[in-house]
Amino acid sequence: VIGTSPDFPPFESLNANGGVEGIEIEIMELICADLGVELVIKQMDFDSVLPGVQAGKYDVGMSGITINAKRQKNADFTQPYFLASQAIVVKSDSPITCKADLEGKKVSVQTATTAEEYCMANGYQVSAFQANNDACSALLSGKVDAWVVDNEVALDLSAQTDGATKVLDEAMTSEPYGFAFAKGSDSLVAEIDKLLDKWLADGTIEALFDKYDVPFVSPKG
Ligand code: ARG
Repeated sequence: VIGTSPDFPPFESLNANGGVEGIEIEIMELICADLGVELVIKQMDFDSVLPGVQAGKYDVGMSGITINAKRQKNADFTQPYFLASQAIVVKSDSPITCKADLEGKKVSVQTATTAEEYCMANGYQVSAFQANNDACSALLSGKVDAWVVDNEVALDLSAQTDGATKVLDEAMTSEPYGFAFAKGSDSLVAEIDKLLDKWLADGTIEALFDKYDVPFVSPKG
């Protein structure tokens, strides 16, 4: 049973039938097929994903989750399978052209994300939204000057705004994505790490990114 927040294309998003699809769903389907278990998906806002893993509400948290030391205190993570970064999204006619221009500006982010943490640490005026789409809407309606979100999601969702927004070309952070398990899941995590090792080496993971037209950035450098 997987807990996920499907507002994060191309990693996980809702399809026309209300199901969840995306790169991470496909990786998890491969993992489940290999382990011989059924894949069951539960949907929620991102800020509930990691707490639910800790509380044992489902077996895996999967949401383009960035692995970091703070989160590793409360959850076990697989090795990373991809390296993302934070990006800045602004309106097409915005005077903001780079990170330095964000100084003192109003910025929208999704609640409980690394983007929120990053923007708070940088002293921006942060508006946090439970749903990614609302963080985007805040930019479109002019409530904020910029929206900070993971780079591939920024490109995907910005492309859906009909030219109203653009993504600035500045990688701000390093965000290794992995899958989260409750503490004490060492043997299961080790088993999945072995699969990820194999699929990172033989191009299986990269082929999935190709399928979604996303340039693959290996976490192994
Ligand atoms: N990578 C970022 C983080 O871990 C953002 C993840 C947001 N995921 C989502 N499904 N909305 O905080």
